[in-house]
Amino acid sequence: MRKFTSVHDLGDLQSALAEAFEIKRDRFQFTELGRNKTLLMIFFNSSLRTRLSTQKAAMNLGMNTMVLDVNQGAWKLETERGVVMDGDKPEHLLEAIPVMGCYCDIIGVRSFARFESKEDDYTEKIINQFIQYSGRPVFSMEAATGHPLQSFADLITIEEYKKTARPKVVMTWAPHPRALPQAVPNSFAEWMNATDYEFVITHPEGYELDPKFVGNARVEYDQRKAFEGADFIYAKNWAAYTDPNYGKVLSTDRSWTVDAEKMALTNNAYFMHCLPVRRNMIVTDDVIESPQSIVIPEAANREISAQTVLKKLLMGLK
Ligand code: CP
Repeated sequence: MRKFTSVHDLGDLQSALAEAFEIKRDRFQFTELGRNKTLLMIFFNSSLRTRLSTQKAAMNLGMNTMVLDVNQGAWKLETERGVVMDGDKPEHLLEAIPVMGCYCDIIGVRSFARFESKEDDYTEKIINQFIQYSGRPVFSMEAATGHPLQSFADLITIEEYKKTARPKVVMTWAPHPRALPQAVPNSFAEWMNATDYEFVITHPEGYELDPKFVGNARVEYDQRKAFEGADFIYAKNWAAYTDPNYGKVLSTDRSWTVDAEKMALTNNAYFMHCLPVRRNMIVTDDVIESPQSIVIPEAANREISAQTVLKKLLMGLK
């Protein structure tokens, strides 16, 4: 594998899942694979889980790791070509990227949607420049339109907890005070569409996602109806995708918060969220603290998804 930005980069999904479970059984069985290989993790945005789980995954494989926080301690980077660089950004991404590629074997990039230009966000302008100019295999640690390491961990978690072969998985929009990218819901939808699960998306009108990611999902505007008989509830906020409201918060309606009364409509569903989560906006305290909440094992599986992806990228170096 030479890049990882989507479920389609993994090849056969069932084989990738089998590989993930093999790693989970013994995460130190491939420590020779990464010997003398260096992972560079580049963060344009903050992180807790991605930073720690990916670094741990690399260490499990015997890799050396370097972390660069672009906005703390590095030169500020200009990302636009053609700009007269007389402002506060002394270095251009077009030099910085190949230089970074000189010091490592694999590059992970976190670069969120900026909501300044829908075209720039949805053409993945930043991570695609790393793919084009670094000369190294590149993987997404959450880019503008996708968070595949999260979705892979989500899928591993569902496979571990599901009680039927074809569970009903419901992704629900929930309120949040700030505008959040569509990366997590886009990816989750993409990955659920790659399974044979029953997959439903529920959100208020105006929060329709890019049809490219929605795929064959059933979209249900009545949240309570969507919850009926669900085996998994996956909560997430996102800002509007459709024009002219791209990147805007249209609603903070707390009647969409996931609470115990709505969870009672489900088939004793497990509650999932990628974290960080705003309690009593996205989900009530009692639901996230309930035995049906699997947000911690879900986060733990981030190490497994990252290790599976890094292993495939390391094997692609040979
Ligand atoms: N879920 C997730 O990616 O968490 P971080 O933003 O903390 O990395």
